[in-house]
Amino acid sequence: MFGFLKRKQKSLIGMDIGSNVVKCLLLDLTEDRPVVTHFAMADLPPEAIVDGEIMDRELVIEAIQAAAQSAGIPDEPVASAVAGRAVIVKKIVMDKMSEADAREAIYWEAEQHVPFDIDDITLDFQILQEDIGADQMELLLVAAKKDMILGHAELIRDAGFQPFVIDVASFANQNAWEFLASHTEVIDVLDEDEDEDEVAPEDSVDDLDRFDEGEDDSEAEVDEKSSEFVALLDVGGGVTNVHIVRDGVPFFTRDLPLGVAHFIEEFQKQLGLTYETAHGVARGHLDDVDQQLVTDIVRSVGSEIYQGLEPSLSYLKTSGEADGIDRIVLSGGGAHLPGLLEYLSESYGVPSEKADPLAGLDYDPDLFGDGEAEELSPLLTVSVGLALREAVGK
Ligand SMILES: Nc1ncnc2c1ncn2[C@@H]1O[C@H](COP(=O)(O)OP(=O)(O)OP(=O)(O)O)[C@@H](O)[C@H]1O
Ligand SMILES: [Mg+2]
Repeated sequence: MFGFLKRKQKSLIGMDIGSNVVKCLLLDLTEDRPVVTHFAMADLPPEAIVDGEIMDRELVIEAIQAAAQSAGIPDEPVASAVAGRAVIVKKIVMDKMSEADAREAIYWEAEQHVPFDIDDITLDFQILQEDIGADQMELLLVAAKKDMILGHAELIRDAGFQPFVIDVASFANQNAWEFLASHTEVIDVLDEDEDEDEVAPEDSVDDLDRFDEGEDDSEAEVDEKSSEFVALLDVGGGVTNVHIVRDGVPFFTRDLPLGVAHFIEEFQKQLGLTYETAHGVARGHLDDVDQQLVTDIVRSVGSEIYQGLEPSLSYLKTSGEADGIDRIVLSGGGAHLPGLLEYLSESYGVPSEKADPLAGLDYDPDLFGDGEAEELSPLLTVSVGLALREAVGK
């Protein structure tokens, strides 16, 4: 979204700097199915990133460098992301006008919607609906503080890589989901469009262009899943991001202040476990514990996710936009919490699945260690979505 290099890339590193774990993978985008050629992961100490803000740059840089070196990741351009809570994503309504005119006018409009000085922010937008009546159109506005985007890019440079783009984590999650939901169709489009030297548009809003996909007649065979309201729930170390999409259009993005750490804390408190054992339980290792008790704790802590989502879903209903969600896709480390998927599925009365972004890619399973690809896949959603940003919808 906030681009640094203009040329399309043949390969791209997706670097997800999470508050608990840095995930890094390199995709070769020249094949019909993108290929994961390198993978690295590093734990971060809790003080490195707090509430989504990088507190100790050196720690983060060292972790990236050590992981990237041991995985032999070459110096390719990097797509990385800032988290949703550090950016403002908002649907706004404004007078109908051309995209070029909107690019000028958006700064005036944004002043009403963004609680920062307009000179301090970087803006991007996508027209969601060109005509909503009364000579108005609907846009998705994305705003982030300039110094935060530049600081993130600088960190990537200091870790020895070249930043290609800084995206928003929830959009990268959406990207990964859409790629998987329609990758056979996308690959057809890719085949026609493999001009690697093509220059991206000046302002690099290309990652948002995919939102138009469903309107293109040549892509009429839209996957059934894409017309559903899908709740992408990323349960990370410290935060749960809820991103609701339909047909490539995001309806809303929310962060709930609840992540795997809160479940671990409850396992420790209620079951008297050490941190290590509780951490293992969160990852689904239940050999030494009472499974029923674990599931009960997961349901009770998980109900905070359910309740936290309620206002947003009520809004979706009262605004007449949807009766509710049709599907839940659970990603992040929290996808492995025993019974969470089942609890959410029951609570909402809709099918749920674990995100599996690796399913749309080719890779040597040994890259991820013995039998670990399946376990790691839900954690890799954002990094895969980032590395795929050159492939989706093109
Ligand atoms: N296979 C796994 N490897 C590492 N951590 C795992 C695994 N499975 C579950 N976890 C848990 O998930 C947490 C990390 O999840 P994730 O990578 O989604 O968080 P993050 O992206 O770093 O955090 P956030 O998105 O909140 O910034 C770990 O702290 C750990 O408790
Ligand atoms: Mg994360």
